[in-house]
Amino acid sequence: MELNEKSVKKLKEDFPIFKNNPGLVYLDNAATSQRPSIVIRALVDFYEKENANASRGVYTLAEKATERYAEARKVVANFIGANPNEIIFTRNATEGLNLLSYTLTSIIPQGKNEILLTEMEHHSNLVPWKQLAKSEGFKLKFVKVKNDFTLDMDDLKEKLTEKTAIVSVTHVSNVLGTINPVEEISRLGKEKGALVIIDGAQSAPSLKTDVKKIACDFFVFSSHKILGPGGIGVLYGRIELLEKMKPFNFGGGMIKKVTLSETEFTSPPERFEAGTQNIAEAIALAESIKYLEKIGLDNIHDWEIELVNYALKKLKEIEGIEIYGPSENKVGIISFNLKDIHPHDVASLLNDSGIAIRAGHHCAMPLMNRLGVVGTCRASFYIYNTLEDVDALVEALKKVMEKFGK
Ligand SMILES: Cc1ncc(COP(=O)(O)O)c(C=O)c1O
Repeated sequence: MELNEKSVKKLKEDFPIFKNNPGLVYLDNAATSQRPSIVIRALVDFYEKENANASRGVYTLAEKATERYAEARKVVANFIGANPNEIIFTRNATEGLNLLSYTLTSIIPQGKNEILLTEMEHHSNLVPWKQLAKSEGFKLKFVKVKNDFTLDMDDLKEKLTEKTAIVSVTHVSNVLGTINPVEEISRLGKEKGALVIIDGAQSAPSLKTDVKKIACDFFVFSSHKILGPGGIGVLYGRIELLEKMKPFNFGGGMIKKVTLSETEFTSPPERFEAGTQNIAEAIALAESIKYLEKIGLDNIHDWEIELVNYALKKLKEIEGIEIYGPSENKVGIISFNLKDIHPHDVASLLNDSGIAIRAGHHCAMPLMNRLGVVGTCRASFYIYNTLEDVDALVEALKKVMEKFGK
């Protein structure tokens, strides 16, 4: 389905939040997306009609819950080009990265003691590795961000060595909107025998993902950013690696056999899903994926680009605006500052006009340092945003400038 101003206005009717908040201009999609009724309905339906624990009981409801949970895993696997046994349900992208930081030491070869990250990582793909470096003595290295807001690939090649154990890179920057060349990064990482992790939190919403084409070892994303419910995320792992990795959490649902003296763990993905899972959320996540696939990820990205290009053209008319992000190869995210006005002041004044944007460091403090700012304003677009939303943003920003006498 092609997205344009008219079809988007129609599609917006699927999202009850807009009916319940008339006039809302929601431009904080990189933080979390809104949910269509079909996803909300899937949650309610499960609890009202089908609730039981999965992978445990033999009665009809329990078997149905087990079946629906397994079906959801298949939908997720298909969404990113993986096999169902390579999909682990987590709480969010952050938990997926933490799981890796706790478990990968069990498969890292001797002599490899470096972790390569970039200056543009979200704290979720930074702090877990910093903790691992502290506890296990790994050395962290960071690929530089160039002045054109893209990754410095020469720097990456220089910093990648035979000692690199892990390369963990965001697919898309949550601040700059930059799309990183993850296929090339995976290839280069593999050449050095490193494990390659891609943080897909900001790419999964609008870029068609094929983990086999990227050829990464692991890929994480969150449901709440792709129209799905909160409290559930996804970790993809290459099955050959998952089979060798030690579990993350221990308890029910992840064992083959337990005696008082011994424990035998089950195979992936269950090995990494201890305890009762978010069954309703997995089912609702599958609904959000079906909804996105019906529209088509390419159509979604095209519409984001149309919105972003229109916004950039109009924003540049505001004298004194500073925009942080590449001119091409990006998603629907724009970071900016208005002269020396604090981003929080801008966001508060925009709120008075019913416009929701994010302001601050966006959980990317090292990138703020690199940009030489304390924070930025960030407008991020998704499938229900219109060109009218962009007009409203630009008009409101002009008023902010007037208010501050700029
Ligand atoms: C690039 C990136 N990685 C990781 C995360 C963490 O996602 P979550 O908070 O859903 O775990 C975010 C969230 O904004 C993000 O933008």
